[in-house]
Amino acid sequence: MTTNDALVQRADDLLAKMTLEEKAGQISQYFYFRGWTAQNELVEAQVRAGRVGSLLFVADPRETNRLQRIAVEESRLGIPLLFGFDVIHGLRTIFPVPLGMAASWDPQLYERVQAIAAREARAVGIHWTFAPMVDIARDPRWGRIVEGAGEDPYLGAQIAAAQVRGFQGEAIGAPEHVVAGPKHYVGYGAALGGRDYDEVNISESELRNVYLPPFAAAVAAGAGNVMTSYVGIDGVPGAADRYLLTDVLRGELGFKGFVVSDAAAVMDLVTHGFARDEQDAAVRALRAGLDMEMWTGMRIAPGADPTPTVGAFSTLAEAVRRGVIEESLLDEAVRRVLLVKLRLGLFEQPYVDEAAAGTILNDPAHREMARIAAERSAVLLRNEGNILPLDRSAVRQVAVIGPLADDRAATLGPWVFAPDLNATVTVLEGLRRTAGEGVRVEYAPGVPMPARAIPSPFASLAQALGMPASSETSFDEEAELAHAVALARASDVAVLVLGEAADMNGEAASRSTLDLPGRQLELLEAVAATGTPVVVVLLSGRPLDLRRVLPLSAAILVAWHPGSEGGNAVARLLWGDATPGGKLPFSWPRSVGQVPIIYSRLNSHQPSTSHQRYWEEESTPLYPFGFGLTYGQVEYRNLTLSATQIGLNDTIEATVEVHNVSARDVEEVVQLYLHQRYGRAARPVRELKGFERVTLKPGERRTLRIAIPPSARRYWSKADSAYVLDESDFDVWVGGDSTAALHAEFAVRSSTV
Ligand code: BGC
Repeated sequence: MTTNDALVQRADDLLAKMTLEEKAGQISQYFYFRGWTAQNELVEAQVRAGRVGSLLFVADPRETNRLQRIAVEESRLGIPLLFGFDVIHGLRTIFPVPLGMAASWDPQLYERVQAIAAREARAVGIHWTFAPMVDIARDPRWGRIVEGAGEDPYLGAQIAAAQVRGFQGEAIGAPEHVVAGPKHYVGYGAALGGRDYDEVNISESELRNVYLPPFAAAVAAGAGNVMTSYVGIDGVPGAADRYLLTDVLRGELGFKGFVVSDAAAVMDLVTHGFARDEQDAAVRALRAGLDMEMWTGMRIAPGADPTPTVGAFSTLAEAVRRGVIEESLLDEAVRRVLLVKLRLGLFEQPYVDEAAAGTILNDPAHREMARIAAERSAVLLRNEGNILPLDRSAVRQVAVIGPLADDRAATLGPWVFAPDLNATVTVLEGLRRTAGEGVRVEYAPGVPMPARAIPSPFASLAQALGMPASSETSFDEEAELAHAVALARASDVAVLVLGEAADMNGEAASRSTLDLPGRQLELLEAVAATGTPVVVVLLSGRPLDLRRVLPLSAAILVAWHPGSEGGNAVARLLWGDATPGGKLPFSWPRSVGQVPIIYSRLNSHQPSTSHQRYWEEESTPLYPFGFGLTYGQVEYRNLTLSATQIGLNDTIEATVEVHNVSARDVEEVVQLYLHQRYGRAARPVRELKGFERVTLKPGERRTLRIAIPPSARRYWSKADSAYVLDESDFDVWVGGDSTAALHAEFAVRSSTV
């Protein structure tokens, strides 16, 4: 008997002892928030009755142990609970937001980062993270663009797989690791108008060529869980789409784990106007292939009745009795959930070592990695006259200006629940710590950060969870603005820290403009008018409209929401103690009116005018996908291919030389793009198909080889309703962004003779 067979046997032995209510309970997951007294009483009673399989939102090891004891010692069968949590970019140690991590173009780094996040999570009793978020996002109005890897399916797939490996380790059950749950399956990023939760309309080709690849990569990397999307394609909500959950996810992608709904998304099948009632919702979700219902425990939509209730899956016992659904389907879902608990070793070791947790959460190596990650994720967009790095010996005073410069919450970004806020290093603090003897660092916020006009529906939840709120700045605005201007005038350089507060991106944080919120632009204009050179550090989780920022700024460094060590990382980059080398994981639009704008577009009609599709400004992005500067200078030379013609199933290899032609270290991401000239469908003008981040010493030359396997040419053809490989002619470009000019070509023929 294999180990797997033995586990299945154990799961089946347990199943044979379970009542229908216990089975339905085992596939029910509940929110458990500190302070939600009425709800928590209900949830604890359910745990005691063996009617809960999993809880989310507990991150205190004493609490996970206490609740686990109820399940193990007080419930009839003693089946341990599975604790899930949104460990998105760290638990205690906060790393850059995922969009920033993607901008590092460094999957190995991301793997190590998520391994640390997993270590901290497991130390407090969390077994499973609702991450990575692998939704392709092509509309930066959508607040959740910050949670993913941007617009590109290839980059997205590499980043997704790396995160799964990091979270899970060698296999599910690896010590100090957690189960990964790629989400939100699938197409959530295409919400109409960038409005979170709005409908999604994507074609089968777009689904398969763009939105599915990161999920396929996460599944291939062994992800133990998948979370469904709130929204649906063609009117079928994600939690009940049998085609996507069973035919595609399990059938085609070979997913072996368990599927969870998004929060309250089974109950939502009723509000969508899809299911008749709760039981219909539960039955249809289970039949579609959903294994576990995530239930908030009460309705949390604004205005909804907050009385705690049990979830829709609790109706499944009766549904089996009434013959509405087969018990075998219920058993399958329960078996999958029991199997993950068995693989994690929860039956042997349900509890966590409370004393050890503190040491792990405060491991200095974690902070070190957070700083490195923030340094590697930053993207340098502009550096006129090489104003950066700043020269410590030439600068006597730095003016640090802007409402975000000392805002710890904005430094961390959204989706953090258990950070040590006081240990978060802001840009101001980072610059102060690193400036050195002869350099003064002075601060003026200049203008306040505005509050959201439409408050976040999560504001109260965030409070209950102890999530950090942005610092409320209330002051005499005119006096502060004048103070900031005076400070800039008296300084050698002004570092303006501008962008978005933490609650301005993330879930339910879509925007209808990409403007700098509040009076930040006015502040920049006033400071720039002093003539003191301006370096802008942007904190945000999406691209912002920089058209009026550019002419006023000598340098722009995108730091995203850089995490616990963000300020130290930014300061080291500004002083040149670290070298920027991140690249944009999306095309940076000029204005919101261009959205969505992507580099991998189709030629369509009259490609020669593709940059002139609007009459008032160019229809090209402000910065292309893959763009980012470093402090030195890189040149690409001698691109060659291993063949001029290959067969349909052959791999071809590109070779290119990368030269550091400057006197500084450089960080560069070498990118390879591919284009198929004709075929069963017109293909994008170019698509990323390979990349590698390299560090080069002054004068160093490196020869890189990048393989282009057949999978790089494979795509979903509408005409065939299948994945195909075409005989065609192909262009290859290699360079430092998606406008790379160094070119080669090859042919693909079914016979190479
Ligand atoms: C989000 C998920 C998240 C879940 C639990 C939902 O509102 O869409 O991404 O994992 O809440 O926090």
